[in-house]
Amino acid sequence: MLAHTRTVCGLTAVVLFAMAGSGLAGTATPATLKKGKELFTENCKVCHQADAIGKPGVAPSLTNPELLSIASDKFFMATIRDGREDTGMPPFAHLGRSGIKAIVAFLRSHAKAPNRADTINSEPDAHGDPRLGKQWYDNICSTCHGVEGQGYEAGGTGTAIGLPGFLNKVSDGFIRETIRNGRSNTRMRGLQGPTGLANLSDREIDDIIVYLRSLAKN
Ligand code: HEC
Ligand code: HEC
Repeated sequence: MLAHTRTVCGLTAVVLFAMAGSGLAGTATPATLKKGKELFTENCKVCHQADAIGKPGVAPSLTNPELLSIASDKFFMATIRDGREDTGMPPFAHLGRSGIKAIVAFLRSHAKAPNRADTINSEPDAHGDPRLGKQWYDNICSTCHGVEGQGYEAGGTGTAIGLPGFLNKVSDGFIRETIRNGRSNTRMRGLQGPTGLANLSDREIDDIIVYLRSLAKN
């Protein structure tokens, strides 16, 4: 029964994305989605958990609505292919382009909102003061993401946002949006607005982004 319901949801998402004209789920056939689910179960579930809901300190959620709405297919494909060096995320180039594409289509079938990656990725780059960004980072972010952004390896519950494996694959718009809105049902709460973990200004958020970018250059 559950499996049936999921298939129906998947098909709804296919229609939605076909209309929105973006995202791999738009072109995915039921056979591709089935293959993607199988490949996910074999290769990813051990860390990312069933339905890719993630587990603090082990692996992030991949079906999180905020992530799905801002991540491009390119981001997913390249992250899965290359993994993230110096983290627990291994490379999966051996699954081939079609295998990885099927997994991304399966992940996308959980999306309920249209994909905004093109808009997010064309936002201007961050400009700011890395010294101020470091202060915010040390005060607010380091407990979860590690003092130098090494993520779980440093014992936190957040991912390695100071390492090239993440930074080289995301735009400043992607980072900005994540800091603003957070990721629902995870420990990453939004950091802007009255309900946020903090209420950072746009400028302060850009200071943090510039600081993060400086970490990857060391
Ligand atoms: C209470 C813990 C916590 C705090 C504090 C926190 N984060 Fe996070 N952050 C997380 C978790 C957990 C995730 C991944 C969500 C998941 O597990 O699915 C995350 C994800 C992210 C991501 C996306 C990374 C990726 O791999 O896609 C960015 C960017 C980010 N956080 C930036 C920040 C910044 C900048 C700060 C400080 C201003 C901050 N976070 C504060 C826990 C935290
Ligand atoms: C051995 C554990 C492990 C396995 C197996 C694994 N991952 Fe990961 N994955 C991780 C960890 C840990 C991270 C976070 C790395 C970091 O700190 O930046 C991650 C991050 C990711 C991200 C980035 C998410 C974000 O929030 O930015 C994607 C996408 C991803 N994994 C997809 C996959 C897929 C698809 C598979 C299977 C083909 C897979 N992973 C298998 C541990 C794993």
